[in-house]
Amino acid sequence: MAGIYVHIPFCKKRCSYCDFHFSTTFSSYRSELIAAICLELVLRKDELNAEEIQTIYFGGGTPSLLNETELSQIMECIHTHYQVITDAEITFEVNPDDAQEANLRTWKKCGINRLSIGLQSFQESDLNWMNRSHTLKQGTDAVRLAQAIGFTNISIDLIYGLPDLSNEQWLAHLNQAVSLKVQHISSYCLTIEPKTVLLHQVQKGKLARPSEDQQSEQFELMVGTLKNAAYEQYEISNFAKDEMYARHNSSYWNLTNYIGVGPSAHSFNGKVRRWNIANNTKYYQQVGKNDHWFEQEVLSDTAQWNECFLTGLRTKWGVSKEKIERFGGFQATERKQLESYLLSGLMVEESTCLRLTEKGKLQADGISSSFFRLD
Ligand SMILES: C[S@@+](CC[C@H](N)C(=O)[O-])C[C@H]1O[C@@H](n2cnc3c(N)ncnc32)[C@H](O)[C@@H]1O
Ligand code: SF4
Repeated sequence: MAGIYVHIPFCKKRCSYCDFHFSTTFSSYRSELIAAICLELVLRKDELNAEEIQTIYFGGGTPSLLNETELSQIMECIHTHYQVITDAEITFEVNPDDAQEANLRTWKKCGINRLSIGLQSFQESDLNWMNRSHTLKQGTDAVRLAQAIGFTNISIDLIYGLPDLSNEQWLAHLNQAVSLKVQHISSYCLTIEPKTVLLHQVQKGKLARPSEDQQSEQFELMVGTLKNAAYEQYEISNFAKDEMYARHNSSYWNLTNYIGVGPSAHSFNGKVRRWNIANNTKYYQQVGKNDHWFEQEVLSDTAQWNECFLTGLRTKWGVSKEKIERFGGFQATERKQLESYLLSGLMVEESTCLRLTEKGKLQADGISSSFFRLD
């Protein structure tokens, strides 16, 4: 089983915190770019060794800016050249201001069966400093309309640990999120990325730098509130009702094979990691003409071991003991480290895996990096 990720590198506006790859000027070359994405899909059709495709994920950027012709063109190309299983999960990232009834119906008609809607915050003032292209009302309306039209697998994205966001306000946001009755919530702690407007604003004192203590408190508040509302935390930042896990993202964490097409998209086949050039013009001009539009690296055993802990410990499935044995098991110092985590209640050992406890999740990055090996 394998997955396909399609990166749509266009956005209406530049959100102040975002350092993903996208461009806000795209009208002059969008047909060339869509054609290049389809060409890449065709060129790489044998890379997955005829494995069946169980998930397709349109991410961005803003996939909801695609028109019907463009989306159909990409979907048709995938169905022509890949073996997609009948109940494949097909996710579309949506910005709320694109979620009009006609668009929602088009996405459904094109085979999209899961929406990931970027609400980000339930406070209008946050959406303003973030430079989002939608209002709060458009966010909640988008979810309700999608539900009314018959989407039964909806996720929303939220960000916590925002400048001046109090714990009381965050709790209110969580309760509003719960009241939307979506199947899945992805909730990320704000990171202040280099070269973003947000970093500039924080450095100039125009926005307060969130404190780490407050971000940890808001993480705990989120885990407790969503758990009480029957959302299972199956990954540090991801919560699902009734086992409606994001199958595509879970396959990243379980290190399943996937190819990523489009500018800046990443691919992984268990051993080789590959990433496309993060430049729209160079991408569409070079795909199929040379091999300068991507780079790749073969992961060493050490890199694979580190990856296993980095991704595995973030999930409820943990790191499988069988995988650890495949790498020759723990070295003496690593075993000692593990024992100290087990004793202090940060990790638990189960019959088939090792995973973090609730307390351990608060220190996930530190714990996983303490198992890292050097080449
Ligand atoms: C790159 S966006 C694409 C989705 C869509 N364009 C949108 O904005 O809703 C994916 C998600 O990453 C999260 N994200 C992006 N930058 C972030 C940052 N600096 N800190 C925390 N979360 C971030 C946001 O929640 C966003 O919805
Ligand atoms: S958060 Fe989403 S809409 Fe905003 S710039 Fe990033 S990708 Fe574009």
